[in-house]
Amino acid sequence: MTSAAPLDLSARYQLARHLAQQAAQRGLHLYRQREHLTVESKGGFSQDVVSAADRELEVFIRTELLAAFPEDGFVGEETGTARLDARCVWVIDPIDGTACFLHGLHNWCVSIGLLVDGVPAIGAVADPNHDELFHGGRGFGAWVNDQPLQVSSATDLRAGLLGVGTFYANGKQHFMPFLGQLLDAGGMFLRNGSGALMTAYVAAGRLLGYYETCLKSWDCVAGLALLAESGGRCNNFLRGDGLLNGNPYLVACPGVYDQVAAMIGPSLDAD
Ligand code: IPD
Ligand code: CA
Ligand code: CA
Repeated sequence: MTSAAPLDLSARYQLARHLAQQAAQRGLHLYRQREHLTVESKGGFSQDVVSAADRELEVFIRTELLAAFPEDGFVGEETGTARLDARCVWVIDPIDGTACFLHGLHNWCVSIGLLVDGVPAIGAVADPNHDELFHGGRGFGAWVNDQPLQVSSATDLRAGLLGVGTFYANGKQHFMPFLGQLLDAGGMFLRNGSGALMTAYVAAGRLLGYYETCLKSWDCVAGLALLAESGGRCNNFLRGDGLLNGNPYLVACPGVYDQVAAMIGPSLDAD
């Protein structure tokens, strides 16, 4: 059910930043004792795992968000959906980079995004190991801590690094041919294990772009809100059932977007 009342996006932005940081600190505490966490495989793939930490943090974030804004909708990786017909829908990943988290690698974060009328409008991505909070949104700019974000001004893939990623379902067949083309063009790839962080790094100009054969909305809605405010381009990721089931994903600075999209081909925005 939608409401005609004005939306308080400033209050939601403030809460997103606060909760991302709080959850990240809780996550850091659990990370430091990760050998005691119960871990399970998801979806039959041994690399796709979930721990008690993921579940605990998602319940914490969901409870706080919906207590503050009970009329809002919610999509979370671990606890599912609520009120998808609301104007404001929170899209969160309690730990993005779970494999890194469980193996003692510092590339993980808490990602809290907000869709307003289906468009990424607010994002907060908290990385406690590097003491970085990426945050921003429509009308708020994009920031890492208190520094403004700006995508790279590069015009060729040879000028820097491209984030890449793939998972078992929906599109791994595109991955190796893509890597071949990237290397042939003089580009180089990076996979750090967190789609939310790699998107934030594109917004920050640290990566030229980031391509994943099939990403989920909770990995990237927060980052897409930052990207929109830092001059980046993205594909039509949320088309169709992208919010619930994911789609191929490309974000990049304007100067290399078309070069990467041409390497991926029509599968990037195919129905
Ligand atoms: C994963 C990370 C990874 C990406 C996978 C995601 P998770 O999320 O974002 O970088 O390659 O597609 O599933 O499982 O760590 O939350
Ligand atoms: Ca994720
Ligand atoms: Ca996750």
